[in-house]
Amino acid sequence: MLDAINVKVKYKVRGSIVEALRGVSLRLDKPLLVTIMGPSGSGKTTLLKAIAGRVPYEGSIRVMGLEVKDNRREASRLVFYLPVGEVLIGDLTVNESIELASMSNHGYNVGDLLEWLGLSGLGNRRIIELSTGERRRVELAIALIKGQVIILIDEPTVGLDEDNARRVGELLKAASRQGRLIIAATHDPILLEYSDLVYGMRNGLLHKY
Ligand SMILES: Nc1ncnc2c1ncn2[C@@H]1O[C@H](COP(=O)(O)OP(=O)(O)O)[C@@H](O)[C@H]1O
Ligand SMILES: [Mg+2]
Repeated sequence: MLDAINVKVKYKVRGSIVEALRGVSLRLDKPLLVTIMGPSGSGKTTLLKAIAGRVPYEGSIRVMGLEVKDNRREASRLVFYLPVGEVLIGDLTVNESIELASMSNHGYNVGDLLEWLGLSGLGNRRIIELSTGERRRVELAIALIKGQVIILIDEPTVGLDEDNARRVGELLKAASRQGRLIIAATHDPILLEYSDLVYGMRNGLLHKY
């Protein structure tokens, strides 16, 4: 599903060069929940962005056999990238947010999905009226509804208490069982309990955790 070989990403910052990825290889053949653990600045977000085709990279990243940098439009139908922070529009209701995402849908029964995520009663609530945990679950609903087979999630449990973090862990695991390859970047050890595979990231390099 994903085959990354010797991926390097460099950022230019005021004349100097930051090597954010220094030769990352990662091959994942099955729908699993995969966690990439690493300290801040180690390159986790950059790796997700490279797979999503959001930053230029050297080396090769193939998703379902397609080289991402040469096939960005096709790759975006295969890979969904959920960045940290505000991807939701505060003024919309939960239902409106889901409808917006559903335009490209999917195969999910939206009602069932919202129930499964524990959001059933919240359809008419505006995003700004939700807790952080509820918001995160709306984001997951959008990620799932969009239908891409590979879902990249940056810091899925950031800002959540332990109960909500566990809930997200369970949902991600369940989603992987429905045939999605889910790659989460995090430094939250709670997610390890739900992961099929864990990699460590340090100084732009990936290693066995
Ligand atoms: N847009 C950018 N421009 C310049 N340097 C960046 C940019 N994004 C990230 N970096 C640098 O690349 C390295 C890896 O960052 P990042 O991928 O965000 O790590 P993590 O997600 O693990 O915290 C860090 O040294 C960071 O400062
Ligand atoms: Mg990051």
